[in-house]
Amino acid sequence: MGRSAEEAVSEIAASQPAPPKEAAAATAPSEMSQATGHPAAAPSSDARAGGASVAQPAPTAAPPSAPTYAQEILPTRPAPQISPHGSRKIRLLVVDDIPQTRQSIIRALRFHEKCEVIGTAKTGDEGVKMALELLPDVIIMDVNMPGSLDGIAATAVIKQKAPWIEIIILTVQDDVDYMRKAMMAGARDFLAKPPMIDDLVLAITRASQHSMEAQAAREALEKKKEAQRALVQGKIITVYSPRGGAGCTTLAANLAAVMHSPETPVVIVDGSLQFGDIAVLYNLQSQFTIFDLAMQANDELELEVVEQMLARHSSGVHMLIAPRPEQAEQINSLQFSAILRRLSTMYPYVIVDTTHRLTDTTLAALDCSDVDVLVGLQDIPTIARMRKFLDLAPALNVDPARSLLVINAYDSKAGVPDAKIAQVLKTKIAATLPRDLGTTIISINRGVPFTLNPELATKPIVAAIQELKSAIEQRLRDLDAPSEEEAETASKKAA
Ligand SMILES: Nc1ncnc2c1ncn2[C@@H]1O[C@H](COP(=O)(O)OP(=O)(O)O)[C@@H](O)[C@H]1O
Ligand SMILES: [Mg+2]
Repeated sequence: MGRSAEEAVSEIAASQPAPPKEAAAATAPSEMSQATGHPAAAPSSDARAGGASVAQPAPTAAPPSAPTYAQEILPTRPAPQISPHGSRKIRLLVVDDIPQTRQSIIRALRFHEKCEVIGTAKTGDEGVKMALELLPDVIIMDVNMPGSLDGIAATAVIKQKAPWIEIIILTVQDDVDYMRKAMMAGARDFLAKPPMIDDLVLAITRASQHSMEAQAAREALEKKKEAQRALVQGKIITVYSPRGGAGCTTLAANLAAVMHSPETPVVIVDGSLQFGDIAVLYNLQSQFTIFDLAMQANDELELEVVEQMLARHSSGVHMLIAPRPEQAEQINSLQFSAILRRLSTMYPYVIVDTTHRLTDTTLAALDCSDVDVLVGLQDIPTIARMRKFLDLAPALNVDPARSLLVINAYDSKAGVPDAKIAQVLKTKIAATLPRDLGTTIISINRGVPFTLNPELATKPIVAAIQELKSAIEQRLRDLDAPSEEEAETASKKAA
């Protein structure tokens, strides 16, 4: 019988000259797999920490002609990428300042069907650099190495930058304190040096499972994020009235219902923060509200976090519901607009219900919206308020080109006629919604928006909401269309 694995590893790790490649090949893999029991620790780089004699010249002292990684391993090693099991091989990086230790590990794993050493490094600093370049699954890391980073410090840096890479620490130090430090730095495992091949392979296999799982989770997350990023640049539609009770919530709830489709998913945001009742109109409850999301909106809002905070209606409409009344004041305009902007990267339509008071959050919604639906009534006080609001609009960054004026609860036989309203407000009326207390009250009390109730499908108010939807879509198309100047430049370029 030939040498045992540990004998082979010890022999190479010790201050013996490296065997020629042919001889090394003869030691693996069958002899390696028969290893039993740990031999006494061979002198290694780690031993230097305790003042033991230096077994090998430090890599910094190596002549410039020292073999490169490719020379160390590639000429003699075929490198199939796929293991017989169909899954890819475990990609390993070996970080150790002793050339013989590196080579012994490479040789020990050379014919292992699951493992592939993709690189070696001689210092902690080089190990970090190579880890981040090659992105191995598992790193076998020495502890004591020359340079600014020892194995534990290098482990900490790598785990911070690429947490899915698993690290097995190899050391002669059988010291609990070392072990603790290594684990705290993020090492997955800890093996005495020189390791037995079976122990090493077992540790690599275990570590690689963790790494593969973490990589799969990370890839899935990246894919999901990518898919979301690739989504449309969503449009924010703010429904506002300077008059409370004009019908904003009724309109917002029903607009969301008719604008939602599998191709154009809608999220509705209850921006009437104090006493918002969109959720009541949809008979929806949620564990989370806009308050929970706002409290995280100072950082980049992660997709998963946003998704978790949304309530989902059976119609497909998603909703960010209003917080408890006492929490409303804690949501600031920056958080509110960050939420709206984030949602607009996830949904083609973000519909925002607002309160009639010009609060910071209502102003934020008006400021970042693509289209404002301004809801008026036929009575003189409401028209007067709307006039005041429109006069103020430029200062509020409300562009008339983005605004659609709607007269709600319209009755042609009572109140100020629509033509007169348009004249006073110097604004075209985009839609009038008929007065229909029966339909609105029934739907509010049942918790089903009337546009979602098939029994009410023939009601003129349902048709009016559809008309408003078409007017919004048309306005969005108009706003997206290139200006004459842009069209001219484009045609010149094409010519
Ligand atoms: N077109 C309409 N015809 C009759 N009543 C309506 C109409 N639209 C809304 N309402 C009623 O007006 C009240 C206030 O509506 P709401 O949507 O809560 O207004 P806001 O959100 O602007 O305060 C509700 O009771 C609602 O049923
Ligand atoms: Mg309301």
